[in-house]
Amino acid sequence: MNPMLNIAIRAARKAGNIIAKGYELAPQDTQVSNKGTNDYVTSVDKAAEEAIIEVIRKSYPEHAIVGEESGVIAGENNDIQWVIDPLDGTTNFVKRFPHFSVSIAIRVNGRTEVGVVYDPIRNELFTAVRGEGAKLNEFRLRIDNERRDLNGSVLATGFPFKVAKHRNAHLNMIEALMNNGVADFRRTGSAALDLAYVASGRIDGYFEIGLKPWDSAAGDLIAREAGALVTNFVGGTDYLKSGNIVAGNGRVVKEILNSIQPTLTDELKA
Ligand code: IPD
Ligand code: CA
Ligand code: CA
Ligand code: CA
Repeated sequence: MNPMLNIAIRAARKAGNIIAKGYELAPQDTQVSNKGTNDYVTSVDKAAEEAIIEVIRKSYPEHAIVGEESGVIAGENNDIQWVIDPLDGTTNFVKRFPHFSVSIAIRVNGRTEVGVVYDPIRNELFTAVRGEGAKLNEFRLRIDNERRDLNGSVLATGFPFKVAKHRNAHLNMIEALMNNGVADFRRTGSAALDLAYVASGRIDGYFEIGLKPWDSAAGDLIAREAGALVTNFVGGTDYLKSGNIVAGNGRVVKEILNSIQPTLTDELKA
């Protein structure tokens, strides 16, 4: 096995165990604080991130780390960067809604080489290595390639609950997509799992405004290695930078882009 994948899996499972234990505790045993409006961080997010960093540091002390809770930790070799979200779905965790994940991506010279997304509640480990495909536990993943258009499709999305300025645009996108045949939407609360669910054919497509690299870098590779097309809102590839992301099979992505095109504000076209 790819040695960096091995360490990423070890780190994800360790963080996952911390999250699963934290989930079993009485809610008052977890400290919750606000980073901004509707934006929570808990003592479990922090403990999980510390555990991941410790595992990485033991094997690769020279690599850089970008963590949602710790920011950038430079290393001697900043060409290799671990991009980590210790708990993707903190709102679900706080509400005791059992759907969240650990997300770890390894990027080398700006290209994602390894992606791991781990759901500790279902014990589902999604992994991908660039050029080697994607897996759910030991099974190879393939997206649903049968779907030719949006009619009857089920898409996932995330509401811009932390950032108000894109709310209207997002509602307009939903309306446009339903008018073009989308049957229903899922708002699961974990962007990393949304991308992993595209990879496993559990949803037909996914779009969201304004993600951070730690939300999407691992799930992006898993989706692409399972055969998905991932783009920004105008078909470009800078979605890790803008955070505006669309994923699905090629035909579904094309239909999503065509549907949302008239709703895009200038900012969302970038
Ligand atoms: C959030 C989740 C959510 C998405 C938000 C993210 P967090 O991450 O991925 O699904 O809609 O944009 O910020 O804060 O729970 O790690
Ligand atoms: Ca967060
Ligand atoms: Ca996240
Ligand atoms: Ca997080």
